[in-house]
Amino acid sequence: MELITRMMDGSISYDPEGRLEPVTSGPGAKQEDKIERLKEVPIFEGCSQKQLRSVAKIARVFDVAAGTVLAGAGEAGDEFFLIIDGTARAEVSADKRVPLRPGEFFGEMSILDGGPRSATVVADTPVRLLVISRRHFANLLKDVPGLTQILLATLSKRVRQAEERAERLGSASAGL
Ligand code: CMP
Repeated sequence: MELITRMMDGSISYDPEGRLEPVTSGPGAKQEDKIERLKEVPIFEGCSQKQLRSVAKIARVFDVAAGTVLAGAGEAGDEFFLIIDGTARAEVSADKRVPLRPGEFFGEMSILDGGPRSATVVADTPVRLLVISRRHFANLLKDVPGLTQILLATLSKRVRQAEERAERLGSASAGL
């Protein structure tokens, strides 16, 4: 079950005091605050005010506690996540953990190919997340200049790392 669904049905806890309202709600002044916050995220640096407004409409911001499982390997995934604050880890395999820091994103693979989550992602510290659902993802790509290119570069890097790791494991098991 996806993160937001689990939060809403109470199956995982989060700090209601620390939680930000979904950016789609609230009076105009609040919306402006949220847009200001988006401006601090590196991938939104090139966005115009109009583009940021569009992102604010489709994005939700959540604070989650350390230890929260944000994505589960093998599960279906309908959300794209961007870390605003805090760190998480992608548990790519039993012996491989990749740190994910502010400004980095995860969850793009399932959104792009519709397949199950390729790794489990867990919050290492309290994490503030920007969450975009699958149905809004195409709008995000349209609104944020350069995001498609950043996504492709990040995917290439992740595939390359996975292949290198598979090669190392293959060599180790062959006794080389
Ligand atoms: P997805 O498969 O949707 O859900 C798990 C996420 O973990 C995946 O998308 C990526 O965002 C992330 N992930 C998978 N492999 C790696 C890796 N090698 N390095 C960093 N992040 C990864």
